Amino acid sequence: MASFDKDSLSNTFVVAIAICLVCSVIVSGVAVALKPQQQLNKALDQKQNILRAAGMLGDSGSEDAQGRTVDELFAQFDVHVVDLNSGEYIADIDPANFDPIRAAKDPDLSAALSGSDDIATIRRRENVSLVYIRRSAGVIDKLVIPVRGYGLWGTLYGYLALDADLQTISGLGFYSQKETPGLGGEVDNPSWKAKWPGVKLYGDDGSPQVRLVKRRAPASSPAAQYEVDALSGATFTTRGVENLVNFWTGELGFGPFIKRLKASA
Ligand SMILES: Cc1cc2nc3c(=O)[nH]c(=O)nc-3n(C[C@H](O)[C@H](O)[C@H](O)COP(=O)(O)O)c2cc1C
Repeated sequence: MASFDKDSLSNTFVVAIAICLVCSVIVSGVAVALKPQQQLNKALDQKQNILRAAGMLGDSGSEDAQGRTVDELFAQFDVHVVDLNSGEYIADIDPANFDPIRAAKDPDLSAALSGSDDIATIRRRENVSLVYIRRSAGVIDKLVIPVRGYGLWGTLYGYLALDADLQTISGLGFYSQKETPGLGGEVDNPSWKAKWPGVKLYGDDGSPQVRLVKRRAPASSPAAQYEVDALSGATFTTRGVENLVNFWTGELGFGPFIKRLKASA
């Protein structure tokens, strides 16, 4: 019987290729097998972010003080697809299969923003997006919208929650950002996030007026109700957050939808 020559060049290649094939089959198999779990984890993570922005879940942990799970709490929300231009609901798109950020990359599903309109520096805005609404006895008591905008190093992605009056901010939280830890990264600091609930959104002219400031106006002045403390040493991130809040609650964001919702209340 011919013996296997371990030192020949061709046999070395055959063995190397065989090992590569076996490894790639194992890696692909594991990736395919784990995909459903990864998608479930991603969905759970988004639900947690929405609940945290709405002040219904602490910054850590996956249950509220009464022991309700993320799924139980999230079930209190209705998820709707809305047309950002008209502010109307769209019934024929399934919110479970719609990704606004992916839509923003598709020229058929989004529109380019021109310089002065693009205050959040997102370049393209999706035509259609998602809203999360919690009702109590049939009356809206929380509205959560997805928000995003450029800071210093990259785009910050998060959720903004409004109270029942659709005028008072209930919370703001980011689930993805590239700012420097200790500087712009302080957007994730719970003590800074705690400054958002209660801040007012729309001025008398109906446009969003949120300002992130180094020096607060006197508490008695009308400007004070729209103000949040700036992040120290992070002027660019601060400006980015101010701009993204005002963009997504304004005319080119969810402004038309929020106006409709107020009118129908
Ligand atoms: C290494 C490094 C990282 C920085 N990271 C941020 C950041 O994440 N966000 C930000 O706005 N500024 C950041 N800055 C600071 C800006 O370059 C700029 O100096 C700062 O925004 C000025 O803010 P101030 O006017 O509050 O001092 C960073 C600077 C350095 C050197």
